[in-house]
Amino acid sequence: MTKKRILSGMRPTGKLHLGNLHGALENWVRLQEHGDYDCFYFVADWHALTSDYASTEEIRANSIEMVIDWLSAGLDPERSTLFVQSSILLHAELFLLLSMITPLAWLERNPTYKEMKAELAQKDLSTFGFLGYPVLQAADIILYKAYGVPVGVDQLPHVELTREIARRFNFLYREIFPVPEPLLTEIPKLLGIDGRKMSKSYENSIYLSDRGDALKRKVMAMFTDPQRQRKKDPGRPELCNVFTFHQLYTPPEEWEAIAADCRSAAIGCIQCKGRLAERIAQRMAPVHERQEYFRSHPEWVREIIEDGNSRALRVASTTMAEVRDAVRIGF
Ligand code: TRP
Repeated sequence: MTKKRILSGMRPTGKLHLGNLHGALENWVRLQEHGDYDCFYFVADWHALTSDYASTEEIRANSIEMVIDWLSAGLDPERSTLFVQSSILLHAELFLLLSMITPLAWLERNPTYKEMKAELAQKDLSTFGFLGYPVLQAADIILYKAYGVPVGVDQLPHVELTREIARRFNFLYREIFPVPEPLLTEIPKLLGIDGRKMSKSYENSIYLSDRGDALKRKVMAMFTDPQRQRKKDPGRPELCNVFTFHQLYTPPEEWEAIAADCRSAAIGCIQCKGRLAERIAQRMAPVHERQEYFRSHPEWVREIIEDGNSRALRVASTTMAEVRDAVRIGF
């Protein structure tokens, strides 16, 4: 019996923060642990170019750093195939073929495209590559005949487009591609320390690599319930970002007690944050150990990626032979 394939990718943003960990990465690890899936996870470095073509200095270093965080969070290269998109040139070939059959209107109506273009107004994104990147994403997915694609809601339009493109290819040429399912990831709403969405560009993130005093300082700086100015004011845990973190890092009996003590003003924010900092440090200790291990052995990370690349290439080559045959292109 062949296992169902899972595929997902991340842009190489460099070191990952706790939002990335609980939003995507833990889900990737869960799918790996499930046992019935053949998981393929890749660094979407060509995708980084679609919006950051003018500043590419950090893409390589960021890719390595991100893979180190994947490994440190529990992805196991023996069980999951970890690879780099730009190492598998067949993504580009399939992208080209899919671009021939994708109506422009499908791309122009994509809500994520419209949003990103408006949000990143300081960059000139009126490019062919940016409009077409969902087609590249479709190629990423169907090249490996993925059954399931774990993503957050923002990526749903792209998976929907992938399904339409796969069906169109199957209809025009030959039934080659399974139509992939989006596997929606429930994302706990972890905000940054300033109360905005946690994002590298806002400089409000707690990173997987933050530890010791640096970690403690960040936790101590976290925004809490704005109406709780003094310790004697009763707090509202349901409106407090620190409490959301406690629900992830602290055992239930303890965070329930913390909530009650916050409401009755028996515990102050400083004390509450101190306990959170300890819990995060405890939970992250094994992650930090693995980070140290891989950072001091970059050659092993390289080897892991090269091994993943060659596994990915094998699958991709088989698909592309079928694709060329179906399209009747090439000798
Ligand atoms: N576009 C995705 C993001 O920005 C990354 C990505 C590229 C991806 N190709 C993919 C995700 C294929 C899932 C499947 O997060």
